[in-house]
Amino acid sequence: MKPAYNIWDLREQARRKLPGAIWEFIERGTEDDILTAHNNAALRRIRFDPRTLRDVTTRDLSIELFGKRRASPLIIAPTGIADLACFRGESCIAGAAAAAGLPFSLATSSTTGMDTIARITRDGAGFWQQMYLWERRDLSWQVVDRAASLGAEALIVTVDTPVWPNREFNRRNGMANPIRANPLLAWSIMQRPGWMAAVLGRYMLNGGLPAFANYPAEVANGGRVTNSPSVSWQDVEELKRRFPGKLLLKGMLNREDALRAAGHGVDGVIVSNHGGRTFDASPASIEVLAEIVDAVADRMTVIFDSGIRRGSDVLKAIAIGAHAVMIGRATLYGAAAGGRAGAARAIAILKEEIGTAMAMVGVTTLDELDRSFLRRDTVPGL
Ligand SMILES: Cc1cc2nc3c(=O)[nH]c(=O)nc-3n(C[C@H](O)[C@H](O)[C@H](O)COP(=O)(O)O)c2cc1C
Repeated sequence: MKPAYNIWDLREQARRKLPGAIWEFIERGTEDDILTAHNNAALRRIRFDPRTLRDVTTRDLSIELFGKRRASPLIIAPTGIADLACFRGESCIAGAAAAAGLPFSLATSSTTGMDTIARITRDGAGFWQQMYLWERRDLSWQVVDRAASLGAEALIVTVDTPVWPNREFNRRNGMANPIRANPLLAWSIMQRPGWMAAVLGRYMLNGGLPAFANYPAEVANGGRVTNSPSVSWQDVEELKRRFPGKLLLKGMLNREDALRAAGHGVDGVIVSNHGGRTFDASPASIEVLAEIVDAVADRMTVIFDSGIRRGSDVLKAIAIGAHAVMIGRATLYGAAAGGRAGAARAIAILKEEIGTAMAMVGVTTLDELDRSFLRRDTVPGL
């Protein structure tokens, strides 16, 4: 693997290695890509109010989450295409996460068996299962029950995708997850012979292309499933009854929704706009973080994602009041750049940068961070 000094280096290596169709699937958002850029810009605009002359010789990145001490505030976000970033990409990222003590979130549309992920993450911080609910709820409940039986610590219900987003570039590129052979995609893949040999070739020699691995047998045998637009609070109640672990709602951008989630006994909300991938006219998730924290953070866990590329981004979210953060593309870039070692490098870069940023703002533990460490006039919603 080539040296990578920051997440942007890994991103550039990923861009050079991946076929254009797969690169765009990972990197782009939806429609006009306004929100992906806005997530980054809104995070970058926030400025710290750094303190000096404090002894910051040793810095502790650990946090308390769901009653357990965690090595760092990072959690791997669910991304349903990691197996195309590199050969067995989901296992690579799960392995890197486990070694670093990060929970790994497995997407509904994953192509690695849940049992494999449970095994890989057993000696680390375990796995969280992400769910899109289908119209046939009985099929969704089968996945939920399986996650529970395999010891998933948390169930993440993604609530920001009631219908499939407009990602015109994927249609233009012949791209879908899992991939299906077509001339447009074949042309894109042929431009990257290295990827074709190292990823596609290895799959062909090892049982074939990645396919959904965690759908119930009825679906795998030719049934059709799409996200249900009828998901409601009734489903939340059913999941609360059904799943014994922590229940998290992902994709919350509204304080009233967060308050309602708290009222339903949900364990946490993930303030996220899906990395800018669902609705191009949504706010940056950092723009609504403060109001959601103010509404519910004393009663439930608040996790932030969308746009984290630097350790200082992590500190900004925590200073506003998030308890932890999720990273999506950062470890996908790493996996594309260098498999498991690349995913581990992405995590290591962010941890190093968190440590550096802590010293620069003048804290030795993340618990010390609060809004007084931020220039209030630069924080949206304050
Ligand atoms: C390629 C890709 C696939 C994703 N797939 C899912 C998914 O299946 N379910 C889900 O809830 N979120 C999915 N997400 C969103 C991530 O979980 C996360 O919210 C987002 O990546 C965070 O933004 P970041 O990439 O800027 O860190 C996906 C993101 C990417 C980049």
